[in-house]
Amino acid sequence: MNKLYLWGIIITAAMLGATYVTVGYQKGGLNGDIVNMLAIAGAVALVIITVFVVIKYVRQMQTDTATGELADESWDNIGEYKNPVPFGWAIIFIGTMIWGMWYFLVGYPVNAYSQIGEYNEDSAAHDAKFEKEYADVKGSRLVAMGESVYLVECVACHGLNADGNNEIDAADLNKRISAKSVKYVIKHGSNNKLLGTEMAMPDRNGLFNANTNALITDAEIDTVAKYVANGMTGKGADIFAGTCASCHGADGKGMPYVAPNIKDWSKDLVVNVLDNGKSGAIGTMPVMDRLNKKQKEAIAAYVMSLKEGE
Ligand code: HEC
Ligand code: HEC
Repeated sequence: MNKLYLWGIIITAAMLGATYVTVGYQKGGLNGDIVNMLAIAGAVALVIITVFVVIKYVRQMQTDTATGELADESWDNIGEYKNPVPFGWAIIFIGTMIWGMWYFLVGYPVNAYSQIGEYNEDSAAHDAKFEKEYADVKGSRLVAMGESVYLVECVACHGLNADGNNEIDAADLNKRISAKSVKYVIKHGSNNKLLGTEMAMPDRNGLFNANTNALITDAEIDTVAKYVANGMTGKGADIFAGTCASCHGADGKGMPYVAPNIKDWSKDLVVNVLDNGKSGAIGTMPVMDRLNKKQKEAIAAYVMSLKEGE
């Protein structure tokens, strides 16, 4: 017998054996399941047909001699016959291209049922239901809701005490901001969409002290950073008034569309950080887009309660 056929039989046996072992060891095996039986029958037929069709063509390659008119060109002495493309083959080729375009434009991918679409619809519906159900939650219940979401989503970085593991991993949420972070913002500017829209704060080269008529100095940065971090108390009020108040307001509580509140937490600020993420002196806070509106509101209430209880 031809050696190829022997190999064909060996490969077929090996593949069928592997199929049997894989299916046989599954929970319950085939168990008389008609659909599984059909699938197995299909697999067996495919294995046998594939192996023997391959053998047929390998044999043909071994014995075939090509005929026809040789093309004039020769590539490194490899010639090419001018045989026309078989008609059926050409039809299938063009047909596949047309089908491919149809499939891409009208067929499954853009135009039909998708699991992701269904999932998105389901979770949007769930969110809507959730927000309706909890629309009236206020006060201490809202804070408790925020705390429970905090414990799931935020503890990993901000820590159980919400101090950012001493500002190593994340911001300390028990106070509005640390001197280190204020200094960083003054030196580098800030562009974190804290107001919800693109509204950047300039870096030190754009921070002019109206009282001294000069750009903010290193010493002034140190002083004003401590002043802001201490809740707008202590030395530095004059620097703040001369350099920062035009945007952040005399009390540091910010102005709509101009600059955020840097004295206290506000609901908008926390929500904007959750919506847009933030990067600064400590590191990068990820966007929290898997939380819904009510959860974000609840977290803001929780963060604001931390500061009050200080
Ligand atoms: C031209 C207006 C402008 C001036 C002047 C200005 N700021 Fe800002 N500041 C902003 C804006 C806008 C943001 C929000 C930037 C963002 O979205 O990241 C901001 C953000 C900040 C933040 C970041 C708050 C946070 O949560 O990270 C701090 C801190 C801050 N400013 C402090 C200061 C101090 C201190 C001064 C004075 C030395 C000052 N700013 C001067 C406009 C200004
Ligand atoms: C992967 C770590 C990580 C997770 C998770 C995380 N944060 Fe943060 N967060 C940070 C880091 C880092 C910063 C500091 C960014 C900087 O350098 O200013 C930060 C900063 C903040 C700020 C400070 C904003 C400001 O203006 O100073 C708030 C508010 C905040 N996070 C709230 C949350 C809440 C609420 C959650 C949970 C829903 C959360 N974070 C989850 C890492 C994280």
